[in-house]
Amino acid sequence: MADHVVSPGQPGQPDPVPDDRFGGEDASTPVDIVISDVTIIDGTGGEPFLGDVGVRGDRIAVIGGPGTLSGGRRIDGTGRALAPGFIDVHTHDDFAVVLHPEMEFKTMGGVTTCVVGNCGFGAAPHALAVLLASALHPGHELPEWEGYSGYLSRLEQEPASVNVAALVGHGVVRGSVMGTDNRRPVTAELAAMCLEIEEGMEAGALGMSTGLIYEPGRYADTAELIDLCGPVADAGGLYATHMRDEGVGLLESVAEALEVGRRAGLPVQISHHKASGREAWGLVGRSLEMIEAARAEGLDVWADQYPYTAGSTILSAVAAMNGLEPESIVISSCEPRPEWESQSVADLARSWEVEPAVAVGRVLAEAPGTTVVLHSIDEGDVRTVMRHPTTMIGSDGLPTLEGKPHPRLYGTFARVLGHYSRDLGLFPLAEAVHRMTGLPAARFGLTDRGIIAPGRFADLVVFDPEAVIDRGTFADPKHYPAGIHQVLVNGRLVVDEGSHTGERPGAVLRRS
Ligand code: ZN
Ligand code: CU
Repeated sequence: MADHVVSPGQPGQPDPVPDDRFGGEDASTPVDIVISDVTIIDGTGGEPFLGDVGVRGDRIAVIGGPGTLSGGRRIDGTGRALAPGFIDVHTHDDFAVVLHPEMEFKTMGGVTTCVVGNCGFGAAPHALAVLLASALHPGHELPEWEGYSGYLSRLEQEPASVNVAALVGHGVVRGSVMGTDNRRPVTAELAAMCLEIEEGMEAGALGMSTGLIYEPGRYADTAELIDLCGPVADAGGLYATHMRDEGVGLLESVAEALEVGRRAGLPVQISHHKASGREAWGLVGRSLEMIEAARAEGLDVWADQYPYTAGSTILSAVAAMNGLEPESIVISSCEPRPEWESQSVADLARSWEVEPAVAVGRVLAEAPGTTVVLHSIDEGDVRTVMRHPTTMIGSDGLPTLEGKPHPRLYGTFARVLGHYSRDLGLFPLAEAVHRMTGLPAARFGLTDRGIIAPGRFADLVVFDPEAVIDRGTFADPKHYPAGIHQVLVNGRLVVDEGSHTGERPGAVLRRS
């Protein structure tokens, strides 16, 4: 993948212009917004080239040579790059887009589309979705909606600054039908779950997600997952999975995910691909081989990844993970006890003079919604997974804005561009952009997005390839990335000169 783009991060000397990239409307007709003299990284992974991009209404109207277009608002792109808006394929922003519609923690980092409903958590049925919402957004009252259709039409009436596409969350569906029962569903329960899933798919969900470490998703066996993927496959959706075990059981978990895809006949998206816990480090080499083998056999399988050596989740799920050391589990958000934030389970156990497991129990008894950061991933593994051509980028950020969220919430895309592509040279900038734009748009079926071309939606990011970088740390995570100058969503400026404009032009993206 490394040699079809030759000039990453050199906006001054792009390659000769391929003429076939120019086109669209008559270049002499004024447009609404022109981004001029900019290095266009078009999302295909192809070579960057210098030109002007003209936007009219919500679409890219024309692409012309440098300095050839005129229009109402002119953004001088000299020395800067223009990419399609970043598509965050793995988010937990289901409720943030309702409660914090300006979504600064994403838009300020160049994200223009969020895929919500990952890891089995989803926006409907509402009664159970509220539980997750209260863990992520304590003290915020969630408005009512009926099913995924109600959720998505509410977002159309009161849009966010980002586009939103949804997955149906298996855990929420199962919980609403079977509570926390640890058993196979009976026929009537299976039918009831299928009805909920069909409702979501009819409303336009892109697929279904599972979270097989979480309660109650983990009580589902492989046969149940295959059955429930039936209506997803019928509707043309995909299966995204937070697998049963990302530790020493990683390979068995990948095998299960592939089995579901094979038997139910639908594409598989492996969520946050990694090997978690020291004993599991290195296994990603083999899990990537399994993905390659499945693809060779005709299965449509991909993965996403966040660019960090730490994960993050709810503390209550940590008991289900093997091989994690108490030192590596750090409280990130704990609303009733902010003084516990930044302390590890080992720290708390020491100061309370109890076993780590007892400390976890004590925290959960007082604050069941506590989230943690887990320093559990090998840097070599992060790079191995990122280099692989089947990996796209997804933040998996938990929008616990009042606490100390994992910095991936803010910095994921800037970190891939600035740290992994530019500074470490893991892949060319055009390849990095492709993994967060054109590739996910194609895999998730986001029509007319992810590519800069005439007629496509004008979701765009102007950034400085020399300066772009994440700025949040684990101790001090809430910083927007550097080097992101303008962000357009559906042709409207959501970020201008590095600050949010208050615009909320986000659309609901339904499976087409
Ligand atoms: Zn997950
Ligand atoms: Cu997730």
